[in-house]
Amino acid sequence: MKGIVDKLYNEHTIEYNEFENLLSCGDEDMAYLADRAREVSLNTFDNRIYLRGLIEISSYCKNDCYYCGLRRSNQKAERYRLTPDEILACAEKGYELGYRTFVLQGGEDSYYNDGVMVNIISKIKKRFPHCAVTLSLGERSRQSYAKMYEAGADRYLLRHETANEAHYAALHPEEMSLKNRKACLFALKEIGYQTGCGIMVGSPYQTVECLYEDLLFMQELQPHMIGIGPFIKQSDTPFGKFENGSVRMTLLLLSVLRLMFPKVLLPATTALGTMDPMGREKGILAGANVLMPNLSPVGVRKKYALYDNKICTGEEAAECKNCLSLRIEKIGYVIDPGRGDSPLCQ
Ligand code: 5AD
Ligand code: FES
Repeated sequence: MKGIVDKLYNEHTIEYNEFENLLSCGDEDMAYLADRAREVSLNTFDNRIYLRGLIEISSYCKNDCYYCGLRRSNQKAERYRLTPDEILACAEKGYELGYRTFVLQGGEDSYYNDGVMVNIISKIKKRFPHCAVTLSLGERSRQSYAKMYEAGADRYLLRHETANEAHYAALHPEEMSLKNRKACLFALKEIGYQTGCGIMVGSPYQTVECLYEDLLFMQELQPHMIGIGPFIKQSDTPFGKFENGSVRMTLLLLSVLRLMFPKVLLPATTALGTMDPMGREKGILAGANVLMPNLSPVGVRKKYALYDNKICTGEEAAECKNCLSLRIEKIGYVIDPGRGDSPLCQ
């Protein structure tokens, strides 16, 4: 097994059979894998963790993905949308707390048309010219992506969810397609966004083949960021009774991704922290280098319920940054005070 890890470390590639073997490795090999991955992230990013303040702007969504709590058919979902002023107030608070990247994430909500988004983005960039704005608003037209980029948006996160056609069709209703998803990601990159793709680990019907296809797709896309976290059931969705994804598999994949893509930005996600109280620390020790604390107004956090039992939704939530900086100092890391741009863009 060490041979497979060393090859990944040196050549950044893995064959299907090697990948399959690695996924069933024991704890000792897993520790070796994490050590090598951590070594690479320390080489690229030092012991510095980049922070992104996540502003969840809308819980309305026109899509109906089977896994997601915001799906339009979920009658139990509580819907809200933040006004441009509320979003600006979140950024203001975030700036004071030391955030230099704001991620505007939401369901696919037609309220946030191009005019509304251009207005919000321009205002944030005017007020905080040295901050990065990341968007995570799902699939839009190339023209829309271009307009928002011209307004000052720097980065875009759009998980591809799976690169396997049949698996994509098992996770999404017919009106959504992997083809369009991929086209969006290539368009975002071409326009100039620092672009992030990603998957849920252990989503229903996911196989080793699916995961390997994800790796191949990522090699083709060459994203700046890769967001992965465990699938967590959301009780009010069609997948509400499926098993959750595992922390171990997520950590293993984080390490594989770090070795395949030494410079990629790799968050230790809130979903990982939800499945294991030490999940985010473990993610960093497995090669992750980004944290995305919640900056949404406390009053709406519980309503952005992608999955069950999401952490950091309580009253203490404004303290996420302090909490996380203490936590990562305990494992020998510090928060980087900058924007944390992709090293591939410098
Ligand atoms: N469990 C884990 N992650 C989820 N997401 C959506 N629903 C779930 C769930 N039940 C992830 C998707 C999406 C991102 C915003 O949240 O990958 O792209
Ligand atoms: Fe949110 Fe610790 S990160 S309370």
